[in-house]
Amino acid sequence: MLMTASTKTAPIVLSVRGLTKSYGNDVHALRGIDTDVQEGEFLVILGPSGAGKSTLMRCLNRLVEPTEGKIFHRDQEVTGKRRDLRALRRQFGMVFQQFNLVKRLSVLTNVLTGRLAYRSTWRSLFYNFSQEDKRIAIECLARVNLDHKAFQRADTLSGGEQQRVAIARALAQQPSIILADEPVASLDPKIARQVLTYLKQVSRELGITVLCNLHQVEYTREFAERIIGMSRGKVVFEGTAADLDDEVLHRIYYRDPDEEEDQGR
Ligand SMILES: Nc1ncnc2c1ncn2[C@@H]1O[C@H](COP(=O)(O)OP(=O)(O)OP(=O)(O)O)[C@@H](O)[C@H]1O
Ligand SMILES: [Mg+2]
Repeated sequence: MLMTASTKTAPIVLSVRGLTKSYGNDVHALRGIDTDVQEGEFLVILGPSGAGKSTLMRCLNRLVEPTEGKIFHRDQEVTGKRRDLRALRRQFGMVFQQFNLVKRLSVLTNVLTGRLAYRSTWRSLFYNFSQEDKRIAIECLARVNLDHKAFQRADTLSGGEQQRVAIARALAQQPSIILADEPVASLDPKIARQVLTYLKQVSRELGITVLCNLHQVEYTREFAERIIGMSRGKVVFEGTAADLDDEVLHRIYYRDPDEEEDQGR
């Protein structure tokens, strides 16, 4: 779906202001990121290896502590304070390149781990899930058409199916945002498209905002409603697939963002 006037005026779900992340004195993974994410959009963060895509995602859910800058989730500042973290992480469902399922557990149990954010610690220790949790988990599996595999061991599924289980696990958490870090990098093109189609479909059906890191231009053109282009820790482009022309791709993949700034002065 192309961006319409109504999605353009959707409320802001995430705001990032002046975000930087450095490792030591030499590695500047993020160098002043400012951006807003609209409620319900399917946003692709596109950029070459090392651009800072994963670091940005990890800062958003505080897996990584930023060096400077602020992040707001629905106008509330996201802090690294312990008491805020649990509530915060509940809002962010994660999907990873390597699926990160527990191989020896059933598909259903893997999806149920998405409910752990809502369980007390002692109950989670024993995988003690309520009937309501199970109902939610099966419903999430049905959304990715895998409810019939609920009782199979996770490692008996194909890669594409495992990633769909990972999407169901993220959904079971009932998040407001899904952060997908290179979710299809380990899959062949046909299956990659299938997984992205599911991801987009469920986000649409449930109104979940998706931030998806990709390095493939082709998939970005096909699936993104909006695109943020990153290069060497900076945002160098914001727009739609229609704006992703050769000049923009050159800017994202080849041009040094610092040189561009110098030219602009
Ligand atoms: N824990 C860390 N310690 C030191 N440097 C790091 C760490 N994490 C990331 N970096 C560096 O930060 C920069 C951005 O890395 P990041 O993983 O965010 O890039 P990316 O865009 O996700 O790349 P890729 O497409 O390869 O996943 C890189 O130079 C990387 O080496
Ligand atoms: Mg990465």
